[in-house]
Amino acid sequence: KIRKAVIPAAGLGTRVLPATKAMPKEMLTIVDKPAIQYIVEEAAASGITDILIITNRGKGLLEDHFDRAPELEERLMGDPAKADILKQVQDISRLANVWYVRQKETKGLGHAVNCARNFIGDEPFAVLYGDDVIIGEQPACGQLIGAYEKYGKAVVGVKEVSREAIRKYSSLKVEPLEGNCFSCTDMVEKPGPGEEFSLYSILGRCVLPPEIFDILDVTPPGFGGEIQITDAMKTLARRDGMIALDFEGRRYDMGSKLGVMQAGVEVALKHPEIGEDFRRYLRGLNLD
Ligand code: UTP
Repeated sequence: KIRKAVIPAAGLGTRVLPATKAMPKEMLTIVDKPAIQYIVEEAAASGITDILIITNRGKGLLEDHFDRAPELEERLMGDPAKADILKQVQDISRLANVWYVRQKETKGLGHAVNCARNFIGDEPFAVLYGDDVIIGEQPACGQLIGAYEKYGKAVVGVKEVSREAIRKYSSLKVEPLEGNCFSCTDMVEKPGPGEEFSLYSILGRCVLPPEIFDILDVTPPGFGGEIQITDAMKTLARRDGMIALDFEGRRYDMGSKLGVMQAGVEVALKHPEIGEDFRRYLRGLNLD
Protein backbone atom coordinates (compact mmCIF):
# COMPACT_ATOMS: atom_id res chain seq x y z
CA LYS A 1 0.00 0.00 0.00
CA ILE A 2 1.45 3.34 -1.01
CA ARG A 3 0.78 5.92 1.67
CA LYS A 4 3.70 8.32 1.47
CA ALA A 5 4.38 11.04 -1.08
CA VAL A 6 7.12 13.56 -1.72
CA ILE A 7 6.48 16.98 -3.21
CA PRO A 8 9.69 18.69 -4.29
CA ALA A 9 9.13 22.43 -3.97
CA ALA A 10 12.62 23.82 -3.51
CA GLY A 11 13.28 25.08 -7.04
CA LEU A 12 14.13 28.70 -7.75
CA GLY A 13 11.26 29.27 -10.17
CA THR A 14 13.32 31.47 -12.45
CA ARG A 15 10.88 31.11 -15.34
CA VAL A 16 8.15 32.92 -13.44
CA LEU A 17 10.24 35.71 -11.98
CA PRO A 18 9.65 38.31 -10.68
CA ALA A 19 6.49 36.74 -9.21
CA THR A 20 8.66 34.19 -7.43
CA LYS A 21 11.25 36.59 -6.08
CA ALA A 22 9.91 36.36 -2.53
CA MET A 23 7.08 33.82 -2.97
CA PRO A 24 7.45 30.14 -3.84
CA LYS A 25 6.04 29.30 -7.26
CA GLU A 26 4.06 26.53 -5.59
CA MET A 27 1.98 29.31 -3.98
CA LEU A 28 0.97 30.85 -7.31
CA THR A 29 -2.80 30.73 -7.35
CA ILE A 30 -5.21 29.11 -9.73
CA VAL A 31 -8.35 31.22 -9.12
CA ASP A 32 -8.64 30.80 -5.34
CA LYS A 33 -6.23 28.07 -4.31
CA PRO A 34 -2.43 27.90 -4.50
CA ALA A 35 -0.97 25.31 -6.87
CA ILE A 36 0.40 23.21 -4.00
CA GLN A 37 -3.08 22.80 -2.52
CA TYR A 38 -4.37 21.19 -5.73
CA ILE A 39 -1.38 18.83 -5.53
CA VAL A 40 -1.88 17.92 -1.86
CA GLU A 41 -5.61 17.40 -2.54
CA GLU A 42 -4.73 15.07 -5.43
CA ALA A 43 -2.37 13.08 -3.18
CA ALA A 44 -4.98 12.82 -0.40
CA ALA A 45 -7.64 11.72 -2.91
CA SER A 46 -5.19 9.00 -4.03
CA GLY A 47 -4.98 7.49 -0.54
CA ILE A 48 -1.76 9.20 0.52
CA THR A 49 -1.71 9.92 4.26
CA ASP A 50 1.78 11.37 4.76
CA ILE A 51 3.37 13.99 2.56
CA LEU A 52 6.89 15.36 2.73
CA ILE A 53 7.29 18.75 1.07
CA ILE A 54 10.90 19.54 0.14
CA THR A 55 11.35 23.24 0.78
CA ASN A 56 14.19 25.72 1.03
CA ARG A 57 14.81 29.15 2.46
CA GLY A 58 11.89 31.51 2.07
CA LYS A 59 9.19 28.84 1.71
CA GLY A 60 7.57 29.43 5.11
CA LEU A 61 4.35 30.43 3.36
CA LEU A 62 3.90 26.80 2.33
CA GLU A 63 3.99 25.67 5.95
CA ASP A 64 1.56 28.39 7.00
CA HIS A 65 -0.88 27.31 4.30
CA PHE A 66 -1.24 23.75 5.63
CA ASP A 67 -1.33 24.86 9.27
CA ARG A 68 -4.34 26.03 11.28
CA ALA A 69 -5.02 29.78 11.22
CA PRO A 70 -6.65 30.39 14.64
CA GLU A 71 -7.19 34.15 14.35
CA LEU A 72 -8.67 33.93 10.88
CA GLU A 73 -10.84 30.95 11.82
CA GLU A 74 -12.13 32.74 14.92
CA ARG A 75 -13.11 35.76 12.83
CA LEU A 76 -14.88 33.60 10.24
CA MET A 77 -16.69 31.66 12.99
CA GLY A 78 -18.32 34.88 14.09
CA ASP A 79 -20.07 35.33 10.73
CA PRO A 80 -22.70 32.69 9.78
CA ALA A 81 -22.51 33.84 6.15
CA LYS A 82 -18.86 32.71 6.09
CA ALA A 83 -19.49 29.13 7.30
CA ASP A 84 -18.62 27.66 3.93
CA ILE A 85 -15.30 29.46 3.57
CA LEU A 86 -14.48 28.61 7.22
CA LYS A 87 -14.88 24.92 6.39
CA GLN A 88 -12.71 25.29 3.30
CA VAL A 89 -9.98 27.00 5.34
CA GLN A 90 -10.09 24.37 8.09
CA ASP A 91 -10.17 21.44 5.66
CA ILE A 92 -6.77 22.44 4.23
CA SER A 93 -5.04 21.54 7.49
CA ARG A 94 -6.81 18.16 7.61
CA LEU A 95 -5.92 16.90 4.13
CA ALA A 96 -2.94 14.80 5.22
CA ASN A 97 -0.04 14.77 7.65
CA VAL A 98 2.30 17.24 6.01
CA TRP A 99 6.00 17.19 6.87
CA TYR A 100 8.81 19.41 5.69
CA VAL A 101 12.51 19.10 5.08
CA ARG A 102 14.85 21.64 3.58
CA GLN A 103 17.00 20.99 0.57
CA LYS A 104 19.97 23.04 1.64
CA GLU A 105 21.25 23.70 -1.87
CA THR A 106 19.32 23.75 -5.15
CA LYS A 107 21.15 20.80 -6.69
CA GLY A 108 18.34 19.43 -8.83
CA LEU A 109 15.16 17.40 -8.63
CA GLY A 110 17.03 14.13 -8.05
CA HIS A 111 18.90 15.68 -5.13
CA ALA A 112 15.59 17.03 -3.77
CA VAL A 113 13.96 13.58 -3.89
CA ASN A 114 17.01 12.09 -2.17
CA CYS A 115 16.33 14.42 0.79
CA ALA A 116 13.24 12.23 1.46
CA ARG A 117 15.21 9.02 2.13
CA ASN A 118 14.75 8.94 5.93
CA PHE A 119 11.09 9.93 5.68
CA ILE A 120 10.32 7.22 3.13
CA GLY A 121 12.37 4.38 4.63
CA ASP A 122 11.82 1.08 2.89
CA GLU A 123 8.52 1.50 1.04
CA PRO A 124 7.44 2.56 -2.43
CA PHE A 125 6.29 6.16 -2.64
CA ALA A 126 4.76 8.72 -4.96
CA VAL A 127 6.45 11.89 -6.21
CA LEU A 128 4.30 14.84 -7.25
CA TYR A 129 6.33 17.69 -8.77
CA GLY A 130 5.43 20.87 -6.93
CA ASP A 131 4.84 22.95 -10.02
CA ASP A 132 2.78 20.44 -12.03
CA VAL A 133 -0.93 20.70 -11.34
CA ILE A 134 -3.06 17.95 -12.87
CA ILE A 135 -6.82 18.27 -12.87
CA GLY A 136 -9.08 15.44 -13.95
CA GLU A 137 -11.92 13.10 -12.99
CA GLN A 138 -9.58 10.61 -11.33
CA PRO A 139 -6.54 11.84 -9.36
CA ALA A 140 -3.46 11.29 -11.54
CA CYS A 141 -1.39 10.05 -8.59
CA GLY A 142 -4.08 7.43 -7.85
CA GLN A 143 -3.95 6.25 -11.48
CA LEU A 144 -0.20 5.69 -11.12
CA ILE A 145 -0.62 3.92 -7.78
CA GLY A 146 -3.16 1.60 -9.45
CA ALA A 147 -0.58 0.72 -12.13
CA TYR A 148 2.11 0.13 -9.48
CA GLU A 149 -0.17 -2.23 -7.61
CA LYS A 150 -0.94 -4.10 -10.85
CA TYR A 151 2.57 -4.41 -12.30
CA GLY A 152 4.81 -4.08 -9.22
CA LYS A 153 7.22 -1.80 -11.06
CA ALA A 154 8.07 1.89 -10.92
CA VAL A 155 5.49 3.99 -12.77
CA VAL A 156 5.95 7.34 -14.47
CA GLY A 157 3.11 9.59 -15.60
CA VAL A 158 3.57 10.53 -19.25
CA LYS A 159 1.96 12.56 -22.03
CA GLU A 160 2.83 12.97 -25.67
CA VAL A 161 4.31 16.43 -26.21
CA SER A 162 5.36 18.36 -29.29
CA ARG A 163 8.79 17.97 -30.91
CA GLU A 164 9.71 21.47 -29.66
CA ALA A 165 8.50 20.78 -26.09
CA ILE A 166 10.38 17.49 -25.74
CA ARG A 167 13.71 19.41 -25.72
CA LYS A 168 12.69 20.90 -22.35
CA TYR A 169 11.48 17.62 -20.84
CA SER A 170 12.47 13.95 -21.14
CA SER A 171 11.93 11.38 -23.86
CA LEU A 172 11.03 7.76 -23.14
CA LYS A 173 11.66 4.52 -24.99
CA VAL A 174 8.25 2.83 -24.79
CA GLU A 175 6.38 -0.20 -26.11
CA PRO A 176 2.58 -0.51 -25.83
CA LEU A 177 1.50 -2.81 -22.98
CA GLU A 178 -2.23 -2.46 -22.54
CA GLY A 179 -4.71 0.41 -22.54
CA ASN A 180 -2.87 3.58 -21.58
CA CYS A 181 0.10 1.64 -20.12
CA PHE A 182 3.45 1.27 -21.86
CA SER A 183 6.54 -0.59 -20.86
CA CYS A 184 9.55 1.72 -20.63
CA THR A 185 13.15 0.52 -20.83
CA ASP A 186 15.15 3.70 -21.36
CA MET A 187 14.88 7.48 -21.28
CA VAL A 188 16.87 10.63 -21.89
CA GLU A 189 16.60 14.02 -20.15
CA LYS A 190 16.26 17.11 -22.36
CA PRO A 191 17.13 15.32 -25.63
CA GLY A 192 18.88 17.22 -28.40
CA PRO A 193 17.61 16.90 -32.00
CA GLY A 194 17.76 13.24 -33.05
CA GLU A 195 18.32 11.99 -29.49
CA GLU A 196 14.66 11.43 -28.65
CA PHE A 197 13.24 7.89 -28.30
CA SER A 198 9.60 9.03 -28.61
CA LEU A 199 7.48 12.09 -27.90
CA TYR A 200 6.35 10.60 -24.57
CA SER A 201 7.67 12.66 -21.73
CA ILE A 202 7.45 12.34 -17.93
CA LEU A 203 5.13 15.04 -16.68
CA GLY A 204 4.93 15.63 -12.98
CA ARG A 205 4.14 12.29 -11.35
CA CYS A 206 5.87 9.02 -10.57
CA VAL A 207 5.72 6.11 -8.15
CA LEU A 208 9.14 4.80 -7.21
CA PRO A 209 10.54 1.90 -5.19
CA PRO A 210 12.91 2.74 -2.31
CA GLU A 211 15.85 1.35 -4.34
CA ILE A 212 15.85 4.69 -6.16
CA PHE A 213 17.72 6.25 -3.21
CA ASP A 214 20.78 4.02 -3.63
CA ILE A 215 20.75 4.86 -7.34
CA LEU A 216 20.45 8.60 -6.61
CA ASP A 217 23.45 8.37 -4.29
CA VAL A 218 25.66 7.39 -7.21
CA THR A 219 23.97 9.45 -9.94
CA PRO A 220 26.40 12.16 -11.09
CA PRO A 221 25.21 15.67 -11.94
CA GLY A 222 23.63 15.70 -15.40
CA PHE A 223 21.93 18.41 -17.45
CA GLY A 224 22.62 21.88 -16.02
CA GLY A 225 25.08 20.45 -13.50
CA GLU A 226 22.11 19.24 -11.39
CA ILE A 227 21.33 15.73 -10.14
CA GLN A 228 18.46 14.75 -12.40
CA ILE A 229 15.77 12.34 -11.21
CA THR A 230 15.42 11.24 -14.85
CA ASP A 231 19.03 10.00 -14.85
CA ALA A 232 18.32 7.84 -11.79
CA MET A 233 15.05 6.61 -13.30
CA LYS A 234 16.93 5.75 -16.49
CA THR A 235 19.19 3.40 -14.49
CA LEU A 236 16.09 1.81 -12.92
CA ALA A 237 14.27 1.51 -16.28
CA ARG A 238 17.26 -0.15 -17.94
CA ARG A 239 17.77 -2.53 -15.01
CA ASP A 240 14.22 -3.48 -13.94
CA GLY A 241 11.92 -1.95 -16.56
CA MET A 242 9.25 0.59 -15.74
CA ILE A 243 5.65 1.39 -16.57
CA ALA A 244 4.79 4.61 -18.40
CA LEU A 245 1.16 5.59 -17.83
CA ASP A 246 -0.51 8.06 -20.17
CA PHE A 247 -2.64 9.47 -17.35
CA GLU A 248 -6.04 11.07 -17.76
CA GLY A 249 -6.28 14.72 -16.76
CA ARG A 250 -5.17 18.17 -17.84
CA ARG A 251 -1.67 19.09 -16.75
CA TYR A 252 -0.62 22.68 -16.15
CA ASP A 253 3.01 23.76 -15.88
CA MET A 254 2.84 26.24 -13.02
CA GLY A 255 6.55 26.90 -13.48
CA SER A 256 5.84 28.75 -16.75
CA LYS A 257 3.94 31.96 -17.38
CA LEU A 258 1.79 30.38 -20.09
CA GLY A 259 0.95 27.40 -17.87
CA VAL A 260 -0.11 29.69 -15.02
CA MET A 261 -2.48 31.57 -17.34
CA GLN A 262 -3.88 28.39 -18.95
CA ALA A 263 -4.63 26.93 -15.52
CA GLY A 264 -6.27 30.16 -14.37
CA VAL A 265 -8.49 30.50 -17.44
CA GLU A 266 -9.59 26.85 -17.60
CA VAL A 267 -10.32 26.53 -13.89
CA ALA A 268 -12.08 29.91 -13.81
CA LEU A 269 -14.37 28.85 -16.68
CA LYS A 270 -15.56 25.84 -14.62
CA HIS A 271 -15.63 27.59 -11.26
CA PRO A 272 -19.09 27.43 -9.61
CA GLU A 273 -18.87 30.98 -8.30
CA ILE A 274 -17.34 32.93 -11.17
CA GLY A 275 -17.51 30.54 -14.16
CA GLU A 276 -20.48 32.13 -15.94
CA ASP A 277 -19.37 35.70 -15.37
CA PHE A 278 -15.87 34.87 -16.55
CA ARG A 279 -17.16 33.22 -19.73
CA ARG A 280 -19.26 36.33 -20.44
CA TYR A 281 -16.23 38.50 -19.80
CA LEU A 282 -14.07 36.49 -22.22
CA ARG A 283 -16.77 36.65 -24.92
CA GLY A 284 -16.94 40.41 -24.47
CA LEU A 285 -13.24 40.72 -25.23
CA ASN A 286 -14.02 40.08 -28.92
CA LEU A 287 -10.76 38.28 -29.54
CA ASP A 288 -10.11 37.59 -33.20
P1 UTP B 1 12.17 22.84 -12.14
O1 UTP B 1 13.32 22.45 -12.98
O2 UTP B 1 10.95 23.36 -12.83
O3 UTP B 1 12.59 23.87 -11.00
O4 UTP B 1 11.87 21.63 -11.17
P2 UTP B 1 13.05 25.37 -10.94
O5 UTP B 1 14.50 25.41 -10.60
O6 UTP B 1 12.17 26.03 -9.95
O7 UTP B 1 12.73 25.92 -12.40
P3 UTP B 1 13.18 27.21 -13.20
O8 UTP B 1 14.22 27.95 -12.39
O9 UTP B 1 11.95 28.04 -13.39
O10 UTP B 1 13.69 26.66 -14.50
C1 UTP B 1 10.68 20.87 -11.07
C2 UTP B 1 10.27 20.69 -9.63
O11 UTP B 1 11.36 20.29 -8.83
C3 UTP B 1 11.58 21.18 -7.75
C4 UTP B 1 10.90 22.48 -8.16
O12 UTP B 1 10.47 23.19 -7.02
C5 UTP B 1 9.76 21.99 -9.02
O13 UTP B 1 8.63 21.69 -8.24
N1 UTP B 1 13.04 21.30 -7.51
C6 UTP B 1 13.89 21.56 -8.54
C7 UTP B 1 13.54 21.13 -6.23
O14 UTP B 1 12.77 20.88 -5.27
N2 UTP B 1 14.88 21.26 -6.02
C8 UTP B 1 15.76 21.51 -7.03
O15 UTP B 1 16.97 21.60 -6.76
C9 UTP B 1 15.24 21.69 -8.33
